[in-house]
Amino acid sequence: MKKKILVTGGTGYIGSHTVVELQVAGYEVIIVDNLSNSIREVIDGIEKISGIRPAFYEVDCNDKPSLQNIFIEHRGIKGIIHFAASKAVGESVHKPLEYYRNNIVTLLNLLELMPEYNVEGIVFSSSCTVYGQPDILPVTEDAPIKPALSPYGNTKQINEEIIRDTIHAGLPFKSIILRYFNPIGAHPSAEIGELPNGVPQNLVPFVTQTAMGIRQELSVFGDDYDTPDGSCIRDYINVVDLAKAHVISIDRMLENKSDDKLEIFNLGTGRGVSVLELINAFEKSTGVKVPYKIVGRREGDIEKVWANPEYANKILGWTAKETVEETLVTAWNWQKRLRERGIQ
Ligand code: NAD
Ligand code: WQD
Repeated sequence: MKKKILVTGGTGYIGSHTVVELQVAGYEVIIVDNLSNSIREVIDGIEKISGIRPAFYEVDCNDKPSLQNIFIEHRGIKGIIHFAASKAVGESVHKPLEYYRNNIVTLLNLLELMPEYNVEGIVFSSSCTVYGQPDILPVTEDAPIKPALSPYGNTKQINEEIIRDTIHAGLPFKSIILRYFNPIGAHPSAEIGELPNGVPQNLVPFVTQTAMGIRQELSVFGDDYDTPDGSCIRDYINVVDLAKAHVISIDRMLENKSDDKLEIFNLGTGRGVSVLELINAFEKSTGVKVPYKIVGRREGDIEKVWANPEYANKILGWTAKETVEETLVTAWNWQKRLRERGIQ
């Protein structure tokens, strides 16, 4: 019998790609998503790629009784991947309580329900944002956690602490915390991808929308940083590569491959790419120009951060495979598909 995995936020960007990979690997997936930042049609895309339509519940993870009903209806859920969260850094500064409630209460509900339904493990979506500006690059998992620069970032730190304390208290489950660097791109089929809400805050959707003519011009936030070309450096990771690391993490927990009840991994490529390099790579690999101008720095931006992924490479046996150039082509193909569908 297929093992059942509950995926919260499973119609979202990273969640949908992970659902595909889980189903391809032979897991039965149950998605719970309140569609606050995604659309129901994503399930059609998942089905087209994997040939399997996952169970779907339009439920808010803050609503514990409804969440509980899902555990009752699908007895034997073995693992959870918890993607559901609000993720707009700027918005979190203006709506801190919304962010603290949505990103913390949802996790508490799941952790409280897990022992009751004998769920063996939870994979949690954390972020490189917990490192702030690291003192040493590339950054390893044991680098100090820096004070958060936004309520959003703080929720990720608090979530990690909640999981750590819960495991330490001896509750009967395991957890793997995955710290993502900058996920980009889309599924190569262009059936699923990122659906930014309104004006994109993140670089790659802004690049593809500018290339499409939806936005007039990309603003590059600063060229006076202490980096080779003066623009900020990040570690851009292909979303399908990222999704695959979740399947490996679930396998690892359910097959008891580790004695540690809590493990933390960086998920990045190990390669730092500047904003200007990324624009250049996009233009080269797609042949499409991206009009841009240099403007002032964006408040709160980290100058440079990229992962040391060696621990994940060694322990999980996972490595990011796709190059940034290949990944930008998938982002562009997705943008074109959105245009065909009349979405953006
Ligand atoms: P996303 O917004 O595309 O997906 C999140 C999904 O969760 C959405 O479908 C949304 O509708 C749903 N959701 C939100 N609150 C919910 C609730 N209370 N109940 C049920 N569903 C709810 O975001 P994403 O980029 O796929 O991110 C997934 C996770 O990864 C998030 O936890 C995010 O903080 C984390 N993360 C993302 C990035 C990134 O750059 N995209 C980087 C690091 C970490
Ligand atoms: C990347 C680079 C910008 C837009 C955010 C969150 C972080 C994590 C990932 C969830 C930066 C520059 C951007 C634009 C630009 N998410 N840029 N013009 O800032 O690394 O991280 O997403 O956990 O928490 O903070 O990603 O895509 O916003 O920016 O020049 O229009 O692109 O300055 O250097 P960031 P990003």
